[in-house]
Amino acid sequence: MSLTNSRYYANRRFFWDERALSLEEQVLLPIQDPVEMGMNLDSLILKLKGLDYYQPLFSDAFSDGEINSKNLSFALSQFIRSMVSYTSKYDVGRLQVADQTNDFPNFTAEENRGKALFLNPAIGCAACHGTEAFIAPGARNNGLDVDNTADLGVGGVTNNSNAEGLFKVGSLRNVALTAPYMHDGRLSTLREVIEHYNNGVKNNPNLSAPLRLPNGGVRRLNLSSNEIDDLVAFLETLSDPEMLADEKFSDPFNK
Ligand code: HEC
Repeated sequence: MSLTNSRYYANRRFFWDERALSLEEQVLLPIQDPVEMGMNLDSLILKLKGLDYYQPLFSDAFSDGEINSKNLSFALSQFIRSMVSYTSKYDVGRLQVADQTNDFPNFTAEENRGKALFLNPAIGCAACHGTEAFIAPGARNNGLDVDNTADLGVGGVTNNSNAEGLFKVGSLRNVALTAPYMHDGRLSTLREVIEHYNNGVKNNPNLSAPLRLPNGGVRRLNLSSNEIDDLVAFLETLSDPEMLADEKFSDPFNK
């Protein structure tokens, strides 16, 4: 998932199954995971101490100036928290209107129609991908599967059966650039994602309320093919090329 706007996830947990309780905890896990970086923290710290450019940076950043895994996790997590998007096409338009629901002057008709669909409570996207960070406060189930045997999600971490099949809902900013989609990458395009919500939602026992009918069934959105295109066009306005090209996020070793 994208790192953009990670700081706005209200329950502050990380990974699709929210097994890391904080970003400070999360950043140390891929370093040590055998299928990711496969390092051990003690040898990593020795390695950092052996590189002369790190000591002055740690001294500047931390009152104790120590190169240790605690300060490493603080530094990495603050860097990730700095990855905030506010210069997308969406933001340029948002500044020109009083309310999010007004048509944006810089949007095409298609993008404005897509925005109206996204924000329409009868369609429901904003119920889970809310605020202008387009993020939920915590994990949800969006009906990808009938049952949760393939991956228990949050329930596998908390041993709470009501949380089985719930997954983190990261920010949709820059989502057009982060295919494939969903926790297991099963969907390749944004169109496939919207087709899922349109007529593919499964009646999972933990399906989140906005995707249910009052009688307990599953909602179908009945979107036309053009409306699906409109929603995709809107999601593409959440891409932020200016942020992505910002030199402060570029590789300092590759200048
Ligand atoms: C009930 C809450 C809910 C509603 C309503 C909802 N979503 Fe989602 N959305 C989720 C969850 C949960 C995920 C991640 C699920 C997973 O990976 O298991 C997700 C994932 C996505 C993703 C993929 C994100 C990624 O990084 O892989 C997109 C795009 C998306 N939703 C768009 C939409 C759109 C557009 C709508 C409206 C048509 C919508 N969502 C309605 C909860 C919701």
